[in-house]
Amino acid sequence: MMLRISDFRTRARSRLPRFVFDYVDGAAEDEECIVRNETDLRALHLLPTCLRDTTTLDTSIEVFGQTWAAPIGIAPIGFAGLVRPRADSTLAQAAQALCLPYVLSTASNERIETVREAAPGGQQWLQLYVMSDRGIAEQMVQRARRAGYGALVLTVDVPVSGMRERDLRNGFKLPFRPGLRTLADLVTHPAWSLSMALAGSPGFVNLTADNVKASPQLQAALLARTMDRSLTWESLRWLRSLWDGPLLVKGLLHPEDAKRALAHGVDGIVVSNHGGRQLDAAPSTISALPAVVDAAAGQVPVFVDSGFRRGSDVVKALALGARGVFIGRPAVWGLAAGGREGAVAALRLFMDEITRTMTLLGAPRVADLQPLHVRKNV
Ligand SMILES: Cc1cc2nc3c(=O)[nH]c(=O)nc-3n(C[C@H](O)[C@H](O)[C@H](O)COP(=O)(O)O)c2cc1C
Repeated sequence: MMLRISDFRTRARSRLPRFVFDYVDGAAEDEECIVRNETDLRALHLLPTCLRDTTTLDTSIEVFGQTWAAPIGIAPIGFAGLVRPRADSTLAQAAQALCLPYVLSTASNERIETVREAAPGGQQWLQLYVMSDRGIAEQMVQRARRAGYGALVLTVDVPVSGMRERDLRNGFKLPFRPGLRTLADLVTHPAWSLSMALAGSPGFVNLTADNVKASPQLQAALLARTMDRSLTWESLRWLRSLWDGPLLVKGLLHPEDAKRALAHGVDGIVVSNHGGRQLDAAPSTISALPAVVDAAAGQVPVFVDSGFRRGSDVVKALALGARGVFIGRPAVWGLAAGGREGAVAALRLFMDEITRTMTLLGAPRVADLQPLHVRKNV
């Protein structure tokens, strides 16, 4: 029975070859940050307020003039096509079905336009990595604007890739050449292997404006996250000149950076440690959130991601001032477990848990969630 998010993870583990499961599940170095994300969430308790009228419960929120049915969205996941063919548009459709936003990664395996066409009524945002060739980012932003993407999310926590030891041990890199161990993995997962054989191995299709396949070097650079390390806060002016919609930065943990972001005119902040995949020594996002919320001083919405596995986790972040929470791996585990329906089921589980938690807390609307509902268990 799929009763909790970890059930989707277990199903994903059995369906995917080890190197694919590890690519999604894994994190940086000792994988301590990813554990911290979850344990710090668990260390917070929720204090109910009783005898409040919760006959009508409303989990919806407004973000940049759009309604989300619940305060969650799907975080950008690069190379999701490794999990399943057409993963990006399938996740976009799952989000659309639930009236939730979906953030497409720069490192997606389907074109910006294709994903938009697959879920035309949905809310899609584009996540941006700026690689050494800034022309690639410029083209992507222009294409996103033409295709109708609602916001641009600049990821700022990847000047270099974190050290993902599981990927190295599994020999996972581009161009992908299966070794002996990977071959055994493929043979023992025939359904996955067949689907990939039929669909063709995924590539980074957004690196060139036209349909020309990007060079293997460029593809490898994106997988290894060879970014433009000269990018600074001043570069936001350059992005602003290309994009007049909402502009968010994703990957902040420091309140001083939140102030800088405000000073440079961003429209939103995503507090994130990349799901523990970058700086392993980084603090959990739930512990970093309150100071960033203070620094943002209500001027822009603050979102958060990394380690959210229960609706009650989401509620804790909202009570501490987050506008919404992005969900990464759980959406992908849902996708691996059951395609579009699996992703919908995983997200619906979050939504049901949020509804139940808000009812138990005596908070019928998201705006009713306050710091007084949260207590640190130490
Ligand atoms: C397989 C995988 C690929 C990711 N790719 C990207 C990406 O391309 N761009 C990005 O900004 N973040 C990326 N992230 C980070 C997520 O957007 C998000 O910050 C993180 O997954 C949240 O943590 P969670 O997985 O614990 O929910 C990726 C995460 C995973 C697990």
